[in-house]
Amino acid sequence: MTTAFAPTAASETGRVHQAQPIEIRAFDGPVGAEVLGLDLGQPLSDDDFRRIHRAHLDHHVLVFRDQRITPDQQIAFSRRFGPLQIHVLHQFQLIGYPEVLVVSNIVENGQPIGLGDAGHYWHSDLSYKEKPSLGSLLHAQELPAEGGDTLFANMHLAFDTLPAHLRAAVEGRSAEHTYLAKYAELQKRSPWRPNLSAEQIAQVKPVVHPIVRTHPEAGRKALFVGEHFTTRVIGLPEDESKQLLDEVFAHSVRPEHLYRHQWAEHDMVFWDNRSLMHLAAGTPDHLRRKLYRTTIEGDVPF
Ligand code: SIN
Repeated sequence: MTTAFAPTAASETGRVHQAQPIEIRAFDGPVGAEVLGLDLGQPLSDDDFRRIHRAHLDHHVLVFRDQRITPDQQIAFSRRFGPLQIHVLHQFQLIGYPEVLVVSNIVENGQPIGLGDAGHYWHSDLSYKEKPSLGSLLHAQELPAEGGDTLFANMHLAFDTLPAHLRAAVEGRSAEHTYLAKYAELQKRSPWRPNLSAEQIAQVKPVVHPIVRTHPEAGRKALFVGEHFTTRVIGLPEDESKQLLDEVFAHSVRPEHLYRHQWAEHDMVFWDNRSLMHLAAGTPDHLRRKLYRTTIEGDVPF
C-alpha cells in the first residue's frame, strides 16, 4: 500500500517549514513501512510531523533511507515526538550528546566505544522504567558487510493470535521488569558491560507493568513482556510464572509476526516500543557495526 501526500507550506508553530513530498510505502509483511521523500536533516513542518506520526502508529516501524544527518538533527527530529530518555549506561553516551546511546561492537585502544550487545535478547526499550519508551530511533553510522540485522515483532498481532488458554492466563495480570535481569550473564561473556555504580543501580529499580497493555494513542491491546527484562508474573509460583512467560515469549516471536531489517548505509529506523519488541540478530566478531540511538519517553503502561 502506498500513501502519497501533496506538499503544503503552513506551520502551526508560526515558523514556516516547507512540507516535503512524502510517500509512505508499507512493507509486504506484518509490520513496517518505508518513508520516501523526507530529509530528516530539514526542520519538520507540522504537516509532515502529523503524517509521520500517523504512519508510525499505523506501521510501527518506519524506515528512512540515506539520511545524512548529524546527531543534533537526529535529536531534533526525535524530540518532536516527546522528551528523550538518557540511558543508564552513561559510559556509552556519544561525547557531547547524553541523549545519544552509541550501539557498537567496536573496541578502540582496548575500550568499547558503545554497547555492543544491545538487543541481544528480545525486548522493548526501557520497559524496566516506570515510564518505558514510546519509541526509539537508530541511525546507521558504520555497517558490517554481513549480519547486523534487527528483527521486530508485532506485539498487537501476538496478542490477537494468543491461544485462548494463554490469553486467559495473562489477562489482568502484571509482570516485573528488571534492567539487571540478565546483566551478570551478559557481563560474563562480553566486554561491553561495565560494573554498575550504586547510583546506576538505584536508577533501575524493578518495576511492575501489565502483561497486556493498551496502546495509549491507538487504543489497541498488545503484549508487553520480553525475554530480556521481564523476570516474573506477579502472584504466580516461580515455576508457573516461568512456564507462562516462556510460552508467551515463544508465541510472540513466531515468524508471521516479524519484520527483519537489513541495514543499508545511513538508514534511520524509528520504531514504536509500545507495540513491538526487537532483537539484534548479531554481528560477526571481526566486523564493525556502529549506530546512534535516541529513545523517546512514553507513558506509564495501562
Ligand atoms: C537495541 O536493542 O536498541 C539495538 C538494536 C540493534 O543493535 O540492532
